[in-house]
Amino acid sequence: MAETNTPDAVALLKADHRAVEELFEKFEKASGDGRKREIAEKICMELTIHAQIEEEIFYPACEGKVEEDMLKEAYVEHDGAKVLIAEIEKGGPDDEYYDAKVKVLSEQIEHHVQEEEQRMEGIFAQARKAGLDMDALGEQLAARKSELMETYQSSGLPTPTLETMTETTI
Ligand SMILES: [Fe+2]
Ligand SMILES: [Fe+2]
Repeated sequence: MAETNTPDAVALLKADHRAVEELFEKFEKASGDGRKREIAEKICMELTIHAQIEEEIFYPACEGKVEEDMLKEAYVEHDGAKVLIAEIEKGGPDDEYYDAKVKVLSEQIEHHVQEEEQRMEGIFAQARKAGLDMDALGEQLAARKSELMETYQSSGLPTPTLETMTETTI
């Protein structure tokens, strides 16, 4: 097989998880509205792109390979996060609930990341066991990630699209 520098799908998605965990820690320690907003915006950007590449590329590849209930929960968890992300994006540190929203988002993400990364039974473990081509998926994820990064850095984040919550508009 050809040598490649692109991480496989699981390595790429896990690296995203670690990066966003670090940002949440930075947010907790940060003081000053400007700094808080700057970090929160990075969190929203990272999570939006991460959720989007999972929903466009990784989760569809998991269909039929990973327990259906787990995948469905993952989509709903993404939508829950998107609602908070939209709130954080619209608001600012002068919102009295701003820090609380970021904190709750971090807790939701922590739970979601566990479901993806859990040893043996997590989504990633099940997908690997089912023989998904993680190298090919890694390349697709990396390509789409840099494309989205470029788009959103110049145009800002779009209003999130909810996959599972048809009664709610945000
Ligand atoms: Fe993830
Ligand atoms: Fe996810």
